[in-house]
Amino acid sequence: MPFSPSSRGRLTHYDLDRFPDDTLFHRLGRAVCRSGCLPRKELYEAWETARRVRRLFRGGRVVDLGGGHGLLAQTMLLLDDSSSDALVVDPALPPSGARLHEALVAAWPRLSGRVTFVPARVEDVALTHDDVVVSVHACGTLTDVVLDRAASARARVAVLPCCHDLDVHEDANLTGWVDGPLAVDIVRALRLKQQGYRIWTQSISDDITPKNRLLIGEPQM
Ligand SMILES: C[S@@+](CC[C@H](N)C(=O)[O-])C[C@H]1O[C@@H](n2cnc3c(N)ncnc32)[C@H](O)[C@@H]1O
Repeated sequence: MPFSPSSRGRLTHYDLDRFPDDTLFHRLGRAVCRSGCLPRKELYEAWETARRVRRLFRGGRVVDLGGGHGLLAQTMLLLDDSSSDALVVDPALPPSGARLHEALVAAWPRLSGRVTFVPARVEDVALTHDDVVVSVHACGTLTDVVLDRAASARARVAVLPCCHDLDVHEDANLTGWVDGPLAVDIVRALRLKQQGYRIWTQSISDDITPKNRLLIGEPQM
């Protein structure tokens, strides 16, 4: 059986041999396998998002909104230790997030005490201009809330949008040329630019997820 990175199957100790190398990604993969709780695609989504964001943004508090297990936030810290701490914000934090965090701390003790899990909504968390706000697959309009909250704080931001509700989302009548979800994401990108952000439009591999468009922004003033 080929090893598909898009699988929703959990990575477990049976998968340890799939990550044999001494690279950071393979070490992360082994820690995730030891936790035994994370869908495989979440490892690849978090890693591919974090390394693209870290090529652009160093330092700052990492705030992972709609963060679920919080792997993205913790990967951001592993890739750049100049961020002192991270918040993982989600009103329905999965109980297994603690198991994942323990496995990561066992592999990287320096993560201990630097990650706070906050059972709250995006709307209820205070952000600052020093934050790096990240969010992978915040469903539907939650991605727009993330972008708005980040822009209000003039924080750096990166989102990998998820499902699009074409009855609700603004598509700027672009759907004669491009498909509806792409139209929605173009509108999001241009809105961020109009708010005084420099933007980057990137993608992660569609072998990992078809919801693979990454929008990154940094305030210019
Ligand atoms: C599709 S999951 C993505 C989780 C994680 N980012 C990932 O990539 O695996 C969407 C997450 O958003 C969370 N969520 C829903 N409404 C929210 C809100 N108002 N504020 C913050 N998170 C929310 C859900 O509990 C869920 O964990």
